[in-house]
Amino acid sequence: MTGETIRWENDAGEVSLLDQTALPGRVRRIRCRDVERLAVAIRRLEIRGAPALGVAGAFGVALAAARSRERELTRFLADVAEAAELLCSTRPTAVNLSWGIDRVLSRVRAARSIEEGRRVALAEAKSVAEEDALTCRRIGDQGAALLPDRCTVLTHCNAGALATSDWGTALGVVRSAVAMGKDVRVVACETRPLLQGARLTAWELSRDGIPVTVIVDSAAASLMQSGEVDCVIVGADRIARDAVFNKVGTYMHAVCACHHGIPFYVAAPHSTFDPGSTAADIIVEERKGEEIRFRGNEKMVPDGAGVRNPAFDATPLALVTAIITEDGILRPPYDLTAAGKRRQRR
Ligand code: MRU
Repeated sequence: MTGETIRWENDAGEVSLLDQTALPGRVRRIRCRDVERLAVAIRRLEIRGAPALGVAGAFGVALAAARSRERELTRFLADVAEAAELLCSTRPTAVNLSWGIDRVLSRVRAARSIEEGRRVALAEAKSVAEEDALTCRRIGDQGAALLPDRCTVLTHCNAGALATSDWGTALGVVRSAVAMGKDVRVVACETRPLLQGARLTAWELSRDGIPVTVIVDSAAASLMQSGEVDCVIVGADRIARDAVFNKVGTYMHAVCACHHGIPFYVAAPHSTFDPGSTAADIIVEERKGEEIRFRGNEKMVPDGAGVRNPAFDATPLALVTAIITEDGILRPPYDLTAAGKRRQRR
C-alpha cells in the first residue's frame, strides 16, 4: 500500500513512518516532527531498506525546509543544507539515501524565495516517493518473467514493500509473478542479527497470502543442496562497478547458489547504482556490538569475547546471474554505465 512505509502527513507537516523495529508484534506509526527525530529513526532502523531510505532522505529535506525558522534566503538554504548533512551521515552504505537527499536539495537551492523552497522541496519529495512505487512495479514485472510457473525463491533480509514506497524490489518480483498467476513460494532467511527476514519479509508476505517459510541463515546452503530452492532474489543497497552491496549474508548465498547452479538475481532501481565506485571505495556500516551480544535483555556472548557486526557485504558481480532493473534485465558482462546515467538524469 503506497504511503504505508513512509508518508508526508499534510495536515501536520510531518513525516510519518511504520516503526519497523516493532514488527511483527506491534503495528505502530512514528511521527517525525523534525529532522533530528527522522535521523534517529534511520539510525535505529525504524525506517530502513535502500529505496525507503531514499524516500526518507527526500522527505527529510522537505521537513527541514518546512521547519526552518530562518527568514532570509541564504540562511534558510544553509539551514536546510545542514539538515541534509545530518541525514546523510546516518547510514553510509545505501546510496539511495544521498540520492534522495540530493534530488530535493538541488531543487531547494534553485528556489528564489523561502516559500518557493518549501513548496518545491515537498513536491520533489512526494515525486521521489511516488516514482519509487512505480519503479518497483516495473522491476517486479521485468523480473516476474524470469520465474518458472512453479518455484521456490530464497531471499535474504527484507527487500519488500517495507523497504520501498510500495511493492518492493526482490519481493516486488515475487508479487508480480503471483499476480501473473504463478505459484511462488518464498524461503525467507531470518537475517541475523536484526531479523529483517523473519520479522519483516515474513510479515508482509503472509499478510498478502504469499506462502513464506523462515529458516535460519545457516540452513540456506543445505536447502540449495537438496534442490528445494529454484532461485535466489535479493535487493541491493549499492551496486558498484564490480560488486553488489546488500545485507550481510548475501555474499554467502551467492557463493552457495553458484556452487549449486542456482540463478542468483539482484533486483534494484537505478537509484541504487554507483558505477563510479568499486567495492574498495564503499563504506560498510559497522553496527553496535550490542545487537549481537544481547537478545532483548539476555546476554548471548560472554563479556570477554569480541564481536564484529558489519551490516553489509559485497557480492562480486561475477556471482550475479542477472540484475533486474525498472528498465530491463542486465546480464554479464555487466556494463553499468547506462544505468548510472539514468540515475543522474532523474
Ligand atoms: O540494514 P537494512 O535493513 O536497511 O538493510 C536492508 C537491505 O540490506 C536490503 O536488502 C536492501 O536495502 C534492499 S531493499 C529493497
